[in-house]
Amino acid sequence: MNRRDWIRNTAMSGSMALMGGFGSLYALSKEERQKFHPRPLDKMIKLSSNENPYGPSEIVRNAIRDSLDIACRYPYSYADELAEMLAEKEGVAREQIIITGGSTEALKACGITFAANGGEIIAGRPTFLAMMTYAKQWGAEVKWVPLNEKKEYDMAAISNAVSEKTGLVFLCNPNNPTSNLLPKEILLKYSEEIARKTILFSDEAYYDFIDDPDYPSLVSMVKEGKQVIVSRTFSKVYGMAGLRIGYLVTTPELAEKVRNNVMAYSNVPAIQGAKAALADTEFYDFSLQKNKEAKDMICATLDELNLEYLPSQTNFVFFHSGRPIHELHRSMMDQGVQIGRPFPPYTDWCRISTGTLEEVGLFTDALKKVYI
Ligand SMILES: Cc1ncc(COP(=O)(O)O)c(C=O)c1O
Repeated sequence: MNRRDWIRNTAMSGSMALMGGFGSLYALSKEERQKFHPRPLDKMIKLSSNENPYGPSEIVRNAIRDSLDIACRYPYSYADELAEMLAEKEGVAREQIIITGGSTEALKACGITFAANGGEIIAGRPTFLAMMTYAKQWGAEVKWVPLNEKKEYDMAAISNAVSEKTGLVFLCNPNNPTSNLLPKEILLKYSEEIARKTILFSDEAYYDFIDDPDYPSLVSMVKEGKQVIVSRTFSKVYGMAGLRIGYLVTTPELAEKVRNNVMAYSNVPAIQGAKAALADTEFYDFSLQKNKEAKDMICATLDELNLEYLPSQTNFVFFHSGRPIHELHRSMMDQGVQIGRPFPPYTDWCRISTGTLEEVGLFTDALKKVYI
């Protein structure tokens, strides 16, 4: 029996917790399975979209079930309640929070508010594309600034690129797809400089995964009244990607501009789920712990195969595949594993998301088959 069949059989028989060998490595107790809901093992192991393989948690599921009784109503007053909770969490006023349908809606809303009709967005390349792709359809221009030799945002070059035309600078930190984080001093120095000249948008989708508990969020600059907008999401650490809920934190003035320009929405089940998620610290801690374990497994295999990778502060790893990503994609699909898409100009690098430990075990087996 190969590992895939073995895992499937043991998972189905519910006996993993009792097994020795690599079974005990993967095992979740019955209680953990009930509380944290690992996704079931699929035929195709999809590690291509940086989704949390756990969740929504049992507490969130219960809140969503209960929310159906009020789902005949529009979401506004429930969104206001969530905004109140988030304002308290972030230390800002309620009007400084905008609840959105995933942070993708937040990115789109800001792109068109501040750069449509000939305005310019400056962004590092490669990065998460949603804002730029959407704003271009509304007449925005995008000035791309390549990452530096460490594959970090080149903040000096970005700051120098700001002109009269610039409506917004887009920063994604930690960055997707590279997974790395700007050094604190560089982040703060250049964010101050950029925000004096134009609006700085900080996409903090992966902020919760950062190891350093003192690493600053740019919400600190929002609190100082600087021209900064921060986006956050419930898709990643809270395991709610399919529910579509995220939010913006910004100054009252910028929040008003976004509100006047775009109506952003989430929905009642997602909002009620998000409220419950904020209080579910057990799931939050579990997510972070499992993500670390999965990343350690991935990195150990990359070390074994002598494949270079960047230090990850996210729920994915960016590694030097050393072969064209299209080819690797095909070979891995043949092994039943879907890896991340190409991220030009790094077409011989691969982004792999963390999964359950069972899924990651299947990924590492497949990678070894393809490379050895
Ligand atoms: C950097 C970054 N921002 C935003 C998103 C969008 O997340 P969502 O729309 O699910 O909140 C993603 C999703 O992968 C991402 O990687």
